[in-house]
Amino acid sequence: MKILITKDGRKYLKEDINVSLNEGNIKKVKLGKNKTHSGKIVYAINPSFTDLTRFMKRGPAIVRNKDIGLIITETGINKNSLAVDAGAGTGYLAAYLANICKKVVTYENRKEFFKIASNNFKFLKLKNIKIKQKDIYKGISEKNLDLITLDLMEPWKVLKYAPKSLKLGGFLVCYLPTINQVDKLIKNIKEQFMLVKTSELIERKWETNNMIRPESRMIGHTGFLVFVRKVG
Ligand SMILES: C[S@@+](CC[C@H](N)C(=O)[O-])C[C@H]1O[C@@H](n2cnc3c(N)ncnc32)[C@H](O)[C@@H]1O
Repeated sequence: MKILITKDGRKYLKEDINVSLNEGNIKKVKLGKNKTHSGKIVYAINPSFTDLTRFMKRGPAIVRNKDIGLIITETGINKNSLAVDAGAGTGYLAAYLANICKKVVTYENRKEFFKIASNNFKFLKLKNIKIKQKDIYKGISEKNLDLITLDLMEPWKVLKYAPKSLKLGGFLVCYLPTINQVDKLIKNIKEQFMLVKTSELIERKWETNNMIRPESRMIGHTGFLVFVRKVG
């Protein structure tokens, strides 16, 4: 498989032989510069993990890269880390966690999203991720965790299970679209947890071709990130 990139930045994920594109056909793709039968230039590279995530089948709304970046840097997860995530949804956040951690278990209670996320993990060839078709509000069986990430409506319902599952110093990170949910979550945090911070990240892309300026359209809001740490 190769990522094929056209001059105007369009990306395709394709097998290496008998490729058919809007720009024309290529018999055998080689790394670097290729010419289609109609004379258009297309560049081929080996796909990175991030290239592949762009071709995941989408289910519900995903956690955006900018927000995943902060989760990774704030919690310091690494190749020895164990993480639990819920709900899996598309499996986007869980996949990025698995790309860094030793092991990730993700919970999804809806059959259709369980299927989408499972297929996405297969597509990404992730061997260190397990998906459970379970309601995380009913409990977490994993122990000694470095991280729990929650992207669901009522994360406060998980607070009673988190202390037994997280190791001392471990993080609970909740991704919430509304500040009402943030308020409710924070009011329910118990003494053995410390609120580290609540953040909102805003990414503004720029046009850099002729007129250099911010793009006129942007995603105004994704979600708030609440970082909580087990300290007692
Ligand atoms: C917004 S999506 C998560 C997207 C995911 N973080 C990603 O980046 O792809 C929320 C998911 O949580 C699931 N969910 C909601 N409540 C749940 C629960 N109690 N236990 C497990 N999954 C749950 C929903 O079915 C939905 O698929």
